[in-house]
Amino acid sequence: MGSEVKPGRGGLRTWAQRHLNAGFVVGFFLVLFTYFVVSRQFAISAPNAVTTNAPRRVADKQVIRAPGDTEGEEKKRGQEWQPKAEERLLPHQDTSGAVPAEESPKRDDADGKPFAAETGKVVCSTHGPYSDTCDLDGDVRVNGTGRSVTLVPASGQLSERREWKIQPYPRRHMLGMEDVTVTQLGSPLDAAAAAPAACTVTHDAPAVLFALGGLTGNFWHDFSDVLVPLFIASRRFDGEVVFLVSNVQPWWLGKYEAVVRRLSRYDAVDLDRDTEVRCFRRLTVGLSLHKELSIKPEWAPGSRRLTMADFTAFLREAYALPRAAPALNLAQQPGTRKPRLLIIHRGHYRRFVNVQEVARAAEAAGFEAVVKDPRGDAPVAELARAVNAFDVLLGVHGAGLTNAVFLPAGAVVIQVVPYGNLERMARTDFGEPVADMGLKYLEYSVAKEESTLLEMLGPDHPVIKDPESVHRSGWDKVAEFYLGKQDVRINVTRFAPTLQQAMQHLRRQ
Ligand SMILES: *[C@@H]1O[C@H](CO)[C@@H](O)[C@H](O)[C@H]1NC(C)=O
Ligand SMILES: *[C@@H]1O[C@H](CO)[C@@H](O)[C@H](O)[C@H]1NC(C)=O
Repeated sequence: MGSEVKPGRGGLRTWAQRHLNAGFVVGFFLVLFTYFVVSRQFAISAPNAVTTNAPRRVADKQVIRAPGDTEGEEKKRGQEWQPKAEERLLPHQDTSGAVPAEESPKRDDADGKPFAAETGKVVCSTHGPYSDTCDLDGDVRVNGTGRSVTLVPASGQLSERREWKIQPYPRRHMLGMEDVTVTQLGSPLDAAAAAPAACTVTHDAPAVLFALGGLTGNFWHDFSDVLVPLFIASRRFDGEVVFLVSNVQPWWLGKYEAVVRRLSRYDAVDLDRDTEVRCFRRLTVGLSLHKELSIKPEWAPGSRRLTMADFTAFLREAYALPRAAPALNLAQQPGTRKPRLLIIHRGHYRRFVNVQEVARAAEAAGFEAVVKDPRGDAPVAELARAVNAFDVLLGVHGAGLTNAVFLPAGAVVIQVVPYGNLERMARTDFGEPVADMGLKYLEYSVAKEESTLLEMLGPDHPVIKDPESVHRSGWDKVAEFYLGKQDVRINVTRFAPTLQQAMQHLRRQ
């Protein structure tokens, strides 16, 4: 029988028990590799300083919580701060140190031979920066338990038999993530011999096949890896699209029900347990991650080139958020309402030691300041509404800044970058995405005097004196010190101009 999954919260505990620890360790290795590749750009030597047992040592120290727990959004914090640009660099692993120019994913359409739509075609994109996907048109048959997708040629159509292995989660090389085999059958003879059984269910709507699990459960990855790519793949169908979900996580579908339901009016299919042969005229296999937490409009399918600002506008609809833009009218009516600034106060490491002093500095700059520790288990709708009421979001680099997606367009995000040459990853993870959302991005880099690492280690420690050497020694130490052991004590005198810039931006609206 079919196996539609209604979004809900069942199965969390068992899923967490089965997958969480393994997933975390797996994720950590990915991060290490990522960092290693990316750091080639500035590390000239000493890559051998990373030993194979290093990641485990750090991983063991981390507290791992289930996605629904209070600190759930932090459970994969090992990944949240990494540059995550690995795949962009992978095809270019030369040692020249140059950042390769980004190319649009090459379309691999059966050796460039065009197919008429009525005879069926498979177009795969296997050279994107992070992900592989295939688009199929024609007689498309999906065997979920067999993890196979087959395009059966129309009678009389002669085509070459071709096969692709597509990992339906949009970051390549996720360990433990099974591929789906996409086959374009060849001659009618081949088709007769290999065609899957006749359709047991025929869908009029197109479908998108993708995987959950992976790095989801971290708030930032939920958006960067799944919600944004799923929006790219499915928004143009205006709800008339079926989601075929591999590695299904009912808790996740429940958590983001408002978004998933608005993208697809059908119940999601639990692909791994689906014994039907489902037939479609149109199917996309895999999700495409264009860039971290964002969209490259020129790569988006369909005639309407979607942007990241379209995504946040869509979220405002999905969660019925009242504010599309900060309506301050400060210039016209000074004093009518103070702009509101939300300080994200993390519960542990990378905290503001003097959060109350920072709040007072914000008040002195003319804001109404609120300090919050957004909890991972709060219903997303509640979080979205709370954040939408603000004009400025201020936080130390971390998953909590993902809440920027709920701000009104034209609002300001201030990212506080901890000490240790972390600006590059800070910009990749939040700086660029925030600008793409149509928000104003401001960055405040912490000086060593503002870092608790200085008093912890003293001025002569290499972590303080020479961050470059720490980067050269590998991800392990960067994660351990700059991300794991550091809190910040903001010098509010030094910080004041950043607050003024935020205010000026809002006044100019
Ligand atoms: C789906 O594929 C599996 C594995 O190849 C196979 O055993 C099963 O019979 C297929 N299902 C149908 C309905 O053809
Ligand atoms: C704080 O910043 C100001 C301005 O940059 C500087 O003059 C002052 O020395 C700093 N205070 C401390 C305690 O570092």
